[in-house]
Amino acid sequence: EITDSRITKIFDSRGNPAIEATIILNYATGTSSAPAGASTGKTEVIAYPKNNIDNSVDFYNKHVRNALKGFNALNQSGFDTLLHELDGTDNFSEMGGNLATALSIANAKAVSNYLEIPLYRYVGGLHPQIPRPMGNIIGGGKHSKNGTTIQEFLVSSQGKTFYDSVYYNILVHRRVGEKLSEKLKGQSVGLGDEKAWTADVSDEEAIEIMKEAAGEISSENKVKIYLGVDFAADSFYNNGKYDYKTSKKTQDEQIDYAVSLNKEHGFYFIEDPLYDNDFEGFAEITKKIGEDSLIVGDDLYTTNSARIQKGIDMKSTNAVLIKVNQIGTLSDTVKSVKLATKNSMDTVVSHRSGETTDDFIAHLAVAFNSKFIKTGTIGGERLAKLNEVIRLEEDLI
Ligand code: PGA
Ligand code: ZN
Repeated sequence: EITDSRITKIFDSRGNPAIEATIILNYATGTSSAPAGASTGKTEVIAYPKNNIDNSVDFYNKHVRNALKGFNALNQSGFDTLLHELDGTDNFSEMGGNLATALSIANAKAVSNYLEIPLYRYVGGLHPQIPRPMGNIIGGGKHSKNGTTIQEFLVSSQGKTFYDSVYYNILVHRRVGEKLSEKLKGQSVGLGDEKAWTADVSDEEAIEIMKEAAGEISSENKVKIYLGVDFAADSFYNNGKYDYKTSKKTQDEQIDYAVSLNKEHGFYFIEDPLYDNDFEGFAEITKKIGEDSLIVGDDLYTTNSARIQKGIDMKSTNAVLIKVNQIGTLSDTVKSVKLATKNSMDTVVSHRSGETTDDFIAHLAVAFNSKFIKTGTIGGERLAKLNEVIRLEEDLI
């Protein structure tokens, strides 16, 4: 039974205010905080009413705190339904999806603490599985200034353990940093929001540098390393064209470009190659390279089961990115994951560009048997998640 709850305004990794919620039971508590996107999908729930966190705080004080008192915390789906009822809209625009997310996860954590079982077991049951880390190495888009047009260039090392895989990803990150400094002699090279390198290089140069570095780390350590990319293409789609720093691409050219990343450069992981409503274009790419690569929908689906169902019907992708605060509750997230998994789509649990040190996504990736956890390569708020998976792997061996 929930005896009380509280919320606190804290700060995220960009220095913006974030919401943290605590659910208090008789003999246990659970605390969680919600992250924030920069390249948010148009069909996500609203993070904060009128973009102001204080509206969520007021809503909590007026409508939520008392309503939660006495509720049976063990009933997670009932808890999440209550949040929807208190909000009364279909996109959490009264309460704010980030308040709903923090409360929903805090409730699950409180129960897992009360039952003395880890969160991944409470959420996922008997068959947990350790994912692989998909780490951001070079980035641009809305996550930095004057970086690449493509938002993220990623790698996933396939080490023997999760610890090893994280370590090799870090080695690639380090090597890329050295190569960028060499190339841009005299200029400083910085880090973007997700602690990927950001520099004034073209997308093609970024691809070459990352490929070279990953190739070197791979042969030096005899480890397979997958290459990946998150276009976040919606953020540079204007007037029917894809607007790169130095050129514009038509729809067909953009599709060819995404296909060539796989066919010519061997990229395995390709996220949001097209704008966020192009279910048909995605299907064309999946048809061409879906056999030997993962085509991932993030802004396309926004963790929304109705949109995922459309993607299933249209064969748009073979994988779904999962972010709890795109949809607002744990139960809605589980529903999306189950739908995807039942239809043989892989899931990838993901951080956001603005993160707190909450590590719950580590538990969700393990609970959901996700193929990858996408949560950066370095940076304390990213390592909070990676380090938690390292601990969970020790638990599971
Ligand atoms: P966001 O982007 O967290 O800034 O929305 C991350 C992503 O596109 O995967
Ligand atoms: Zn994305």
